[in-house]
Amino acid sequence: MNAAMAIDGGALALGGGLLALVRPALDLVEPGGVLALLATSRTVREDLPAWCRVEHHAYLGCEALPDGRDRHLIGRGALSVPRGAREQPGAPTPMPERADPSSGFAPRGARVEPGGPVYPFSLNERDRVAPPEVAQLYQQAVAAQWDATRDIPWDRVGELEPALERAVGQVMTFLAENELSALYVPSRFLPRIHPAYLEVAQFLATQLADEARHIDVFLRRARVRGVPGISSATTSRSLHSLLMLEDFAEATFLLSVLGEGTFLDLLRFIERHAPDEATAEIMRRARVDEARHVHFGVVHVRHAMSIDPTLQARLEAAVRRRAATMHGVGGVPAPLQDALTILAAGGTAPAAVARGHEAVRQLLDDMHAGRMKRLEHAGFSAEGAQRLSDLHTPNFM
Ligand SMILES: [Fe+2]
Ligand SMILES: [Fe+2]
Repeated sequence: MNAAMAIDGGALALGGGLLALVRPALDLVEPGGVLALLATSRTVREDLPAWCRVEHHAYLGCEALPDGRDRHLIGRGALSVPRGAREQPGAPTPMPERADPSSGFAPRGARVEPGGPVYPFSLNERDRVAPPEVAQLYQQAVAAQWDATRDIPWDRVGELEPALERAVGQVMTFLAENELSALYVPSRFLPRIHPAYLEVAQFLATQLADEARHIDVFLRRARVRGVPGISSATTSRSLHSLLMLEDFAEATFLLSVLGEGTFLDLLRFIERHAPDEATAEIMRRARVDEARHVHFGVVHVRHAMSIDPTLQARLEAAVRRRAATMHGVGGVPAPLQDALTILAAGGTAPAAVARGHEAVRQLLDDMHAGRMKRLEHAGFSAEGAQRLSDLHTPNFM
């Protein structure tokens, strides 16, 4: 009988390592194909047929060769683990359109033995989870990680007049509080993402590491020469409404496109008016990270909207629902508004404060213009973008 493949088992017994040669060899044979095994150990004659029965392979018999060896023939069973698509070495397996929750944590491209449990993944469709750019964004994020201790010139924080130092502490408190929400909100969705879309989970992991670092540097800056400031009820209400979101697309849209997008302008403003080099460097580095989070949000929403025509209306409804929870809140949280004014003024001299006040007013215009641009980039019409930008939370995030 012809075999698709032959291996030499030498004097190995079945329980003495022979299976480490037989099993991987059978794995290379198609179901129904035949493997020939040359063996000198006589115990194999008894042990191999029994093993084949248990493993759902067919033992096809044994022939004694003139050189004293046995030639055993094994038919690869149809019930054994299927081979699946042949992998190209070095090439990544593409993401499937739909993923099966019973494949669990099996890496993409691995052959999955049937019989495993169904996992509680709910984001099982590629186009609702993974924008085409995500693998590239993950690689960029990995290359762009920085060190909160080494990369910030902490020794350049000088002494400031007390009102300005308090303003810096207040701004940093506000930033850290919002960053905490940016850490917690995506964390809720990560365990729902099917591992077939690993790159999305990996990208979110870098985003979480970024937010952890941002919280670290903002609080360190607040404490270098001062203490944390006030956490306002407006901020708390705004961030609570983000944390309660149950839909991944809605959360990505509200957090990353609208919230972190608006923060890009805020971080640029603080960098421009920073009282010292360390604060400016913190803002610059945080802004580069945030630009990546915003980019992921925009391409995610744009891709998901392109395949689901109902998504745009759902996202608009989510913005309206969130605006309704902020009912009665007039504007930017007062402690933040005052702190940004003093920061931009560089102190408390009345003429400077007038300039600071004007700078903060200009910041709000810049934020609106930036949101419009990002919303249109994500696929909204100019009118739709205008409506959504106007409804965005006065807390910025
Ligand atoms: Fe952040
Ligand atoms: Fe972020």
